[in-house]
Amino acid sequence: MIAAAIVSCSIASTMLVPHSHGGGTLHVHPPRQVGHAEMYRPTPMPDRIVLTWSEDPSASQAVTWRTDRTVTAGLAQILPADAAPLVAEAARQITARSTDLKTDLNEARFHTVNFQGLVPNTKYAYRVGDGVNWSEWHHFTTASDGPEPFSFIYFGDAQNDIRTHWSRVIREAFQTAPRAKFTLHAGDLINRANNDGEWGEWFGAGGWMNGTIPVIATPGNHEYAAMNAGRTVSAHWRPQFEFPSNGPAGLEETTYYLDIQGVRIISLNSNERIPDQKEWLRRALASNPNRWTIVTFHHPVYSTARGRDNKEVRDQWQPIFDEFRVDLVLQGHDHTYGRTNLSSGTNAVTPAGTVYVVSVSGPKMYEIDRKSVFARVAEQTQLFQVIHVDGDTLRYEARTAVGELYDAFQLRKRRGAPNQLENARITAAERMKAASGGGKAPGSRNP
Ligand SMILES: [Fe+2]
Ligand SMILES: [Fe+2]
Repeated sequence: MIAAAIVSCSIASTMLVPHSHGGGTLHVHPPRQVGHAEMYRPTPMPDRIVLTWSEDPSASQAVTWRTDRTVTAGLAQILPADAAPLVAEAARQITARSTDLKTDLNEARFHTVNFQGLVPNTKYAYRVGDGVNWSEWHHFTTASDGPEPFSFIYFGDAQNDIRTHWSRVIREAFQTAPRAKFTLHAGDLINRANNDGEWGEWFGAGGWMNGTIPVIATPGNHEYAAMNAGRTVSAHWRPQFEFPSNGPAGLEETTYYLDIQGVRIISLNSNERIPDQKEWLRRALASNPNRWTIVTFHHPVYSTARGRDNKEVRDQWQPIFDEFRVDLVLQGHDHTYGRTNLSSGTNAVTPAGTVYVVSVSGPKMYEIDRKSVFARVAEQTQLFQVIHVDGDTLRYEARTAVGELYDAFQLRKRRGAPNQLENARITAAERMKAASGGGKAPGSRNP
């Protein structure tokens, strides 16, 4: 061991890391901040792998991934999963449709393959790459082609400081419901629509889970950015997610529906053209062959945050939810938690039996507006929700970031009548911001 003098390369650092330049002298550098451009630089190796559906979840599965622009042909391979080591030569290989995206940080290429002709309720293995550089093999399981019990995970806004503060929430949710059929994200996944580093953080938090459990997402106001004369959805949205194009013209992949195991999931786009979506919504509900209907969009019908209201959403869409007895509406935007009862206080909300939820999974926090319609509220709490559908019963549970059960109820279908709602007994105390503490998270500037 050579005894070496320590020479500081910085006078401003409090954490000094010694290293030798070979001459026996140790130089000390302060830690270097690694920026988004470096952390999320695309390479020939696939990253941001995400499963979504654009067609029937019992017969198809879309996968999207990112590379740099040296990859001229994206490839995906698929075969029935087997316990024996997988043999690539036995796989079906499909060439991707690719889209270039110039972001604030880099120039990337997104690749999408939609696996079709799959067998319902079957486990498949797939990988993506370019013929030389391949991802690991992932598993997914197709949906059943009819009603079958399943669970899914619902997240309110992740949005801010995602890597630091949201990673633990999605991972806690995965540990709670590892066999979830999908994750559902009710908008404001990120804070700045076209910020590639924030999308990098979002994909990093979910990691390999997004390649195994499909994602359903609806855009929030933070997925919208000023562009030309108006505001348009993030340039990342359509290249990186493959959602159905069965919505109104111009709202493809933001307004859409999917049927999965006895449930119709409808995404509405609450950021633009709210009246335009009414007739489409009415048709989507009138034609629904499933027992259950769950609708998601970002701006809540009943705002949980102080000083906020989305009257147009309520006036335009709620009468249609009432008419068709939508079961559950999953929303975000208000950075608090609130869940309606069927009728509560003086405000006989939702006589049709619809339950409205606002939740938040990221660190930005607002103050609650304690309306009489809410059966349960929370401030200053990161949450995720697990929803189980089984025959005539839907079971809902909201859990905090540490996994504690915070709210729960059960809906039971009744023929020709609104659902019966039964609130579960919860031992967790109501979580409200301390009078002097709390407040908005660092880095939060706008809703
Ligand atoms: Fe938000
Ligand atoms: Fe929002």
